[in-house]
Amino acid sequence: MHVHNYEKLWLGASLLLIVGFISTIVYGAAGAGVTMVNDEGGHVNPNNLGNTSGFDDPGVTKIGPSEYEVHVAALRFAFQPGTIEVPANSTVTFYVTSRDVIHGFQIVGTNANTMVIPGEVSKITVNFDEPGEYGIVCHEYCGAGHHSMAAELLVKEPSNFTMQTDTQTPTSGNGPTNATATPTGGESA
Ligand code: CUA
Repeated sequence: MHVHNYEKLWLGASLLLIVGFISTIVYGAAGAGVTMVNDEGGHVNPNNLGNTSGFDDPGVTKIGPSEYEVHVAALRFAFQPGTIEVPANSTVTFYVTSRDVIHGFQIVGTNANTMVIPGEVSKITVNFDEPGEYGIVCHEYCGAGHHSMAAELLVKEPSNFTMQTDTQTPTSGNGPTNATATPTGGESA
């Protein structure tokens, strides 16, 4: 049987293409470290996050000399907290869950990228070596405000970093007195 040279060429090219497609699928499934949201981060009751340890007061917790934990609650259409500060040269583990619907959590410019599912806690650990500013975006369509659902992560120079302490309700008495807002004069209605 005679096979025309052009036909051989196209047969070869299409075989290569098929092998190429299969390779990209295999790489994407097994090689790139992509996994489903798994049970590692645990489960929570999305309707009771206010009484769930970590999510009752989302934010940064120091757990070791240069190790931090960050609890983040996603909801339509924001992340709590909206600004996260950690020092550089640290290992930061994010625990992210949703109060309502499925959201996404991506720290732009890093490989931290997960789906956020109500009832599940997504756990991701990231090392930050250098100071920098990162945007955090929701990448699962979650409703009319999806495009505006974002937060920011500030990785500070360790010398400039101070833990954000919780705003305590000042105890009456010897605490510093709250400055009363002085009305700015001038503009009369
Ligand atoms: Cu939340 Cu899109």
